[in-house]
Amino acid sequence: MSRVEHIGNATLYLGDCLEIMPTLGPVDHIIMDPPYEAIMHASKGGMKGLVRPDGSHHWKPLDFAPIDEIRDEVITWGAQCDGWFIAFCTSEGVGRWADGINPSPMRYKRACVWVKPDSTPQMNGQGPAQGAEHFVCAWAGQGFARWNAGGKRGVYTHCVNSPEREGTHPTEKPRRLMSEIIADFTNTGQTILDPFMGSGTTGVAAVMADRRFIGIELQEHYFDIAARRIEEAQKQGDLFIPGAAA
Ligand SMILES: C[S@@+](CC[C@H](N)C(=O)[O-])C[C@H]1O[C@@H](n2cnc3c(N)ncnc32)[C@H](O)[C@@H]1O
Repeated sequence: MSRVEHIGNATLYLGDCLEIMPTLGPVDHIIMDPPYEAIMHASKGGMKGLVRPDGSHHWKPLDFAPIDEIRDEVITWGAQCDGWFIAFCTSEGVGRWADGINPSPMRYKRACVWVKPDSTPQMNGQGPAQGAEHFVCAWAGQGFARWNAGGKRGVYTHCVNSPEREGTHPTEKPRRLMSEIIADFTNTGQTILDPFMGSGTTGVAAVMADRRFIGIELQEHYFDIAARRIEEAQKQGDLFIPGAAA
């Protein structure tokens, strides 16, 4: 680990999550957007040039390694949280995560869907475009699994190109998507760990919802972006608390 930043209710570590997770105390939930499978990385590498409405590129080369080789170790550490273990993945990755989680002490619940109404069309017309991603959820806590959304279906619909998109990370998640997940699965004051924080979207949503946040990121340029975004979100929140922004 080469840097630690404390920003209000957030603690951010620059380094490898496989080295840092074993050093952390207990956390309530893990909500993470880890690197996808190697097959997805390979397909993203071959597509460049499409431009988003905000001028950024749809497909930026992925400058981090796929999840395949470290998935089991991430599950081992993830099983030690006290609540939900949530991991984003491709449709093709759902079975691999379920196969890894099932032998662990966690209880695999199901794969939820993130529907992307504005996802990139299949430009070569040779088959259907990807219109959704998934996140698997497993309960690592004691007793019955608990969440705040009653009988709600696990379907989350959010555009990729929202006006608040930061646009600096090739796989940035929409902040509103992360806010909806945090509202459904976690409670005020609880601690959320994102061991693959990237540009920090989970952390932004966490501090906006008055959760504690621990984020880990391997690459310094993404770590710096995350620190800035989380600090801004924290200051924004403090504006509503008399005296806190001073
Ligand atoms: C899919 S991206 C997360 C994007 C994030 N959700 C956002 O909105 O910006 C995964 C991130 O994990 C980081 N990463 C990959 N391996 C890691 C490791 N072993 N420890 C910590 N971070 C890692 C990558 O550098 C990348 O930024």
